[in-house]
Amino acid sequence: MLSERQGADLTPLLAEKRVLLCVGCGGVGKTTTCAALGLAAARSGKRVLCLTIDPARRLAESLGLERFKTEAQRIDAEVFAAADIDVEGSLTVMMLDTKGTFDSLVTALAATPEKRQRVLDNPLYQYISSSLAGTQEYMAMEKLYSVKDDPSYDLILLDTPPTSHALDFLDAPERLASAIDSAAVRWLLQATARTGKFSLNLLARTAASVLRGLGRITGGGFLDQVAGFLAEMNELFGSWKSRTEEVASALRRPDVAYVLVTSPDPLSIREVLFFANRLREQGMQPDAYVINRVHAPISDIPDAHAVVQAAHRHGLEMSGSLAERVIEAMKQEARLGELDRLHLIAIEEAFDEGLASPPVVRVPDFPLDIHDVRRLIWVANTLAPATVP
Ligand SMILES: Nc1ncnc2c1ncn2[C@@H]1O[C@H](COP(=O)(O)OP(=O)(O)O)[C@@H](O)[C@H]1O
Ligand SMILES: [Mg+2]
Repeated sequence: MLSERQGADLTPLLAEKRVLLCVGCGGVGKTTTCAALGLAAARSGKRVLCLTIDPARRLAESLGLERFKTEAQRIDAEVFAAADIDVEGSLTVMMLDTKGTFDSLVTALAATPEKRQRVLDNPLYQYISSSLAGTQEYMAMEKLYSVKDDPSYDLILLDTPPTSHALDFLDAPERLASAIDSAAVRWLLQATARTGKFSLNLLARTAASVLRGLGRITGGGFLDQVAGFLAEMNELFGSWKSRTEEVASALRRPDVAYVLVTSPDPLSIREVLFFANRLREQGMQPDAYVINRVHAPISDIPDAHAVVQAAHRHGLEMSGSLAERVIEAMKQEARLGELDRLHLIAIEEAFDEGLASPPVVRVPDFPLDIHDVRRLIWVANTLAPATVP
């Protein structure tokens, strides 16, 4: 039962795992969860790296950073001291950079510097590396793969890309490779190999017009660009394929944990349960659920007189009409709390379907956005209470 799991604590995951992936739909609180877990782990002495994707600017500023950058930035210990938080370890943040990661991948895979440069300079590569579906998800995994064994960190947290299909990245390694190895691409390649030049088929014409529209290609060089690109990519592909297999298998290691983040909203819960099933199909398990922004149940709503009295005890004089408004707000909160309670009852069996029952942590809907370190600590304390000193 979900209710019996109250008091669930993610501290053991922070202590035992090397990599945590926060997964869920956009807006449910993945970035917040990721940052709060990072802070909790840093507080307990870990050297933490948070790979994030779309942090709120105000969150970055509150961590003493003008903005998150694509290179590693360690949060200054002063920032924690100023908020009275004792951090024994360290917290480093890094923004994911899809194109930059793709470029490093090409650099790593290309046989010679000349070949690397030809790929990087090709307008088609520039288009694919920033616009091909699945690229962002795959490159997040690729980045994770490249830092996972970095001895400067004890724990790496990944805030996955905000996709409506939060699970896309699980297949993304294979998918990206197969997109590039697609039949159409091979056909184009064979066509060039046989005749030395293309006949302009539909695919080539469409790609040409897209790229012209983008202003990336002018005039007649297009076919040469396509031919050059496909030949180079095909050569890279051999080593790339085994790389994507390594990345995919790294995601299945036992020291990698999946934290599934959802709001109490049925749509978001459905997405997360779908993801949990996909994990199980692939022989993995969700390691924890975070239900974020849960409204508290309120059972007895006081009357206006009691509110005025209570305010008075706190040294506040409150008018009757203000007390009425407070009661209205409480009633509204109670309705939301009741709705959340019903949604959460409806899902508890589904959460139990797996072999192991992962911890389920509920995080309250705080009255303010989580845009500074002190508020982040509220969330950290809820997610991992055992890390509270
Ligand atoms: N428990 C919470 N209580 C109040 N506000 C929250 C809570 N969790 C997240 N938020 C706020 O909700 C917004 C979206 O959260 P964010 O972590 O950026 O979502 P995601 O990364 O899933 O898109 C942010 O403004 C954040 O401060
Ligand atoms: Mg986010």
